[in-house]
Amino acid sequence: MNSKKISLTGIKPTGMPHLGNYLGAIKPALEMANSGQYEAYYFIADYHSLTSVHKAQELNDYIYEVAACWLALGLDPSNVTLYKQSDIPEIMELNWILSCFSAKGLMNRAHAYKALSAENESKGRDTDHGINMGLYTYPILMSSDILFLKSDFVPVGADQLQHIEIARDLANAFNHVYGEVFTLPQAKVQEGELVPGLDGRKMSKSYDNHIPLFLTEKKLRKMINKITTDSSEPSEPKDPENSLIFDFYKLFATEQQIKDLSDWYKRGIGWGEAKLELFNVINEELKGPREKYNELMADRKLIDEILEQGAAKVRPRASEFLKEVKKAIGVI
Ligand code: ADP
Ligand code: TRP
Repeated sequence: MNSKKISLTGIKPTGMPHLGNYLGAIKPALEMANSGQYEAYYFIADYHSLTSVHKAQELNDYIYEVAACWLALGLDPSNVTLYKQSDIPEIMELNWILSCFSAKGLMNRAHAYKALSAENESKGRDTDHGINMGLYTYPILMSSDILFLKSDFVPVGADQLQHIEIARDLANAFNHVYGEVFTLPQAKVQEGELVPGLDGRKMSKSYDNHIPLFLTEKKLRKMINKITTDSSEPSEPKDPENSLIFDFYKLFATEQQIKDLSDWYKRGIGWGEAKLELFNVINEELKGPREKYNELMADRKLIDEILEQGAAKVRPRASEFLKEVKKAIGVI
């Protein structure tokens, strides 16, 4: 028996992952996997995307983009099991079972649903306008993703904490009736704030303020140039602690680089110069992975093979565990 704790996380294929996904989830998850201390399972949450992406070709492309991002950023399939949620039908069976243990009120309180219904209300629309049941019960499917593998740790950005709490609530509700069937998962969240977007709010695809991970150098430079700044002269001293460019810089630079740029801010720096420094540190980190990403996207067969192998490893565990759950509830 393997005594290593399980680390599991998923990314929704709704577009190419962005710098927030990378720093908040992908990078910490890969660090956990590479530490050798965990058994790692990372997956593509494609059924979650179906709550919002209803174009087949688009969804299919996004699946490859997310898989290629994981691989390009260093996921080693011999060390981490990479799979696609929709290849594990047991997750959907568990989804139904768990939905029978989820109070409706718990879903009413889920942040993503609440935000959408509040937006509807503020615009004078019906509160349920545009909200499908998949979106409403999203946290139950996410709980199934986590619980079916008896995950111990879930590396995610802080915006996902409520979902992990819900997974624990559902596991507890079930265990309370049937005994200790489910393992209670714990979130592993990066310290500090969520990565900001180009407008200073949380970086998110939904806010359209994000920097996709693998843009060409030219496009990356252009995006960085879009960060809004004030109209102060280059020679004027600037406060690094009050600058979005500097906030981004800190996420990619070394201690020494951070100190040097901070000094330059205080002496007076032109915003164009600050943006170039920022471009350089981001580009330095992403240059190698970008090449790998482009290679992988040009040969999707390799991605197919890796995902198939991942699913083949996960399914026997899923079906074994589901038997345990079915026995507990009395259907077998
Ligand atoms: P988006 O909000 O762009 O749709 P996802 O919901 O697909 O992103 O998030 C995938 C993972 O990335 C999750 O673990 C999430 O917590 C993390 N994440 C998303 N945005 C950020 C951010 N701005 N800062 C840190 N982590 C983030
Ligand atoms: N809800 C997560 C997000 O929007 C994606 C996700 C789905 C997930 N299932 C998961 C993350 C299970 C961690 C574990 O980012």
